[in-house]
Amino acid sequence: MISYKKLGLVNTKKMFEVALARKFAIPGYNINNLEQLQAIIIGCGETESPVIIQISQGARAYANQTMLRYLGEGGVEMAKEKGYSIQIALHLDHGSSFELAKSCIDSGFSSVMFDGSHLEYEENIKITQKVVDYAHEREVSVEAELGILAGIEEHVKSDVHQYTEPEQVEDFVNRSKCDSLAIAIGTSHGAYKFKVEREEDIPELRFDILQDVRKRLGKYPIVLHGSSSVLKKYVTMINQNGGALEKAFGIPEEQLRKATQYGVSKINIDTDGRLVVTAIVRKILAENPKEIDPRKYLGPARQELIEMIKRKNKMVLGSAGQAKYIS
Ligand code: G3H
Ligand code: 13P
Ligand code: ZN
Repeated sequence: MISYKKLGLVNTKKMFEVALARKFAIPGYNINNLEQLQAIIIGCGETESPVIIQISQGARAYANQTMLRYLGEGGVEMAKEKGYSIQIALHLDHGSSFELAKSCIDSGFSSVMFDGSHLEYEENIKITQKVVDYAHEREVSVEAELGILAGIEEHVKSDVHQYTEPEQVEDFVNRSKCDSLAIAIGTSHGAYKFKVEREEDIPELRFDILQDVRKRLGKYPIVLHGSSSVLKKYVTMINQNGGALEKAFGIPEEQLRKATQYGVSKINIDTDGRLVVTAIVRKILAENPKEIDPRKYLGPARQELIEMIKRKNKMVLGSAGQAKYIS
């Protein structure tokens, strides 16, 4: 059993306090491997942004649960070595059970999500509460979810949105005592977020629901999942190099900026990182068919990921330069 504190990680409490006061969103970047972690540390370190490193159940199985603890610690140590003064949280993304959340807490995670959004309301509260009890004794933060995002979630496949019902949020938060709440206002996971033909037809997120939730919860951290913008540059690069991503559209950046002004304190991004890596690897291998050294394509992919993260922190989330206000 190891506490995240020993690894130099932090929970999300102060991050969220400052994000709410200063109206920006903490990035929740998902990782599966070393290069993604390095890119996040460098990208967030260079932009002086706090960061939540997210591990899905699938990522945990892929990377190995024991390895992850050392990756988390390695990220903290790498940041120190490079002289970055940033706060790093290690977070379980879309945890599907109390047992999984407990196991992550016991192996050094500083934050966990219990995603009971697909469960019946009372059951969602009950398990969230159980996770909160265990987590709070150890000063670990807990994210919960109300409402269902369309698209593919790890253990949830949903064809339709089930928007969060604002009438439920106060009761849910007060009874479950979760530290942040993910809500469904029209975002969804993956590269195909909207069934539209053209970018111009992408609908607005349900800012009315967001505002209502915000009014009811006051200064309380709200989380948006499924918030990649599905950057056109990388979709094009993938398609020019043998890929076949058609009608892939994400959340327009101006809508994400607006969300941060309406009280969203954490924005989750996985797909954009996947697109960057796939685009660069495809391009390099297409142009250099004899290349067999992974460093020659994963290195440039990592560099492009750093640039993508820096730009997002600066231009979309507003998290750049905020680390100095936390701690
Ligand atoms: O919300 C889901 C994340 O994008 C993680 O995806 O389950 O394929 O690792 P994954
Ligand atoms: P995207 O698929 O939009 O990147 O969303 C990621 C996410 O919500 C991880 O929990
Ligand atoms: Zn998610």
